[in-house]
Amino acid sequence: MSKSILITGGAGFIGSHVVQLFIEKYRDYKIVNLDCLTYAGNLENLKAVENAPNYIFEKVNLLDIDELKRVFEMHKITDVIHLAAESHVDRSISDPLAFVNTNVIGTVNLLNVAKTYWKNLKDHLFYHVSTDEVYGSLDHGGFFTETTPYDPQSPYSASKAASDHFVRAYANTYGLKTVITNCSNNYGPNQFPEKLIPLCIHNIKNDRPLPVYGKGENIRDWLFVVDHARAIDVVFHQGKVGETYNVGGFNEWKNIDIVKLLCRKMDEKLGKEQGTSEKLITYVTDRAGHDMRYAIDASKIQNELGWEPSLQFEEGISKTIDWYLENEEWLNNVTSGDYQKYYQEHYK
Ligand code: NAD
Ligand code: TYD
Repeated sequence: MSKSILITGGAGFIGSHVVQLFIEKYRDYKIVNLDCLTYAGNLENLKAVENAPNYIFEKVNLLDIDELKRVFEMHKITDVIHLAAESHVDRSISDPLAFVNTNVIGTVNLLNVAKTYWKNLKDHLFYHVSTDEVYGSLDHGGFFTETTPYDPQSPYSASKAASDHFVRAYANTYGLKTVITNCSNNYGPNQFPEKLIPLCIHNIKNDRPLPVYGKGENIRDWLFVVDHARAIDVVFHQGKVGETYNVGGFNEWKNIDIVKLLCRKMDEKLGKEQGTSEKLITYVTDRAGHDMRYAIDASKIQNELGWEPSLQFEEGISKTIDWYLENEEWLNNVTSGDYQKYYQEHYK
């Protein structure tokens, strides 16, 4: 095997697409998926590749340093692509410490183990996957670029910003080879139905209210998850060491417009009269400290590395809805357990 890549968070939403892409495209890489399987991690996301000869799963928590060392040694890890994180803003508002533990301390643990295990740091890459939310909130003008100053506003984005700073500090202080990408909102198969798009699909399917925070006018820039995985592939192989690349969909939508689009598409697909699902829209109390707008200028990765999104939004949304409708068992499995409790407490 030419490389042995540790992908953390590979059982989660984005990680599962990255693991699958790397396994299928690079048969000569060993892919070690390290994940502790929180509520957001699910091995069913990896059914298509679980028996691949170049795939290994390690159920390990980033907070367990001895286990991290064991995994590096046992699998002779040559590179890291780090995605494992607590990822939902609303949960970060109710339990910020969980985000400090996994996103900040977990990342520093991984950096320490990599730095110690890798004898010759110039032979290895530590790729850190981050979010555009570290840049804060935009109003109606402008875009986030790679030089926009960090200004995180939620406990989630503060924890991701801290982890980005640690990665850069390890590059500067110890000479670790690093690269960071900051991506906009992802959507697509395997996303846990607490985030806006899968939550609405799930609720429309079950005739439940569609909770829209505030006036629904907040704006996000949406990217199909497979396009994010493609960007990670490109940056891992061609990105310049020490650089940051913003990844985005060139695709800004107001929340309410997305919810209405989902309603229209699902009425069509479920054979309901147009307008039926829109009646489920319910305006609820706004999220505390709700960021107004995110918008990425992705021209650096586009111009320097030739990456661009491959899928139009309406096509991606249609594929996503189809996937959730076809994967009822997946949806039932992930929404059993304490999902109902979370849902009732959050939307009470
Ligand atoms: P996710 O919540 O779907 O998955 C996270 C995965 O990490 C899960 O499989 C979980 O089990 C695992 N994990 C959590 N804590 C862990 C720990 N302590 N030890 C080991 N494993 C642990 O998240 P996602 O949406 O796939 O996001 C992946 C990464 O991409 C995150 O770093 C996130 O900040 C970043 N990101 C996400 C988005 C988005 O729109 N979802 C956008 C930009 C960047
Ligand atoms: P989310 O999917 O949680 O991603 P993020 O907060 O990381 O951008 O939310 C996307 C947008 O949708 C955000 O502006 C909050 C809003 N939202 C709702 O209006 N209702 C909901 O039930 C959820 C989960 C989000």
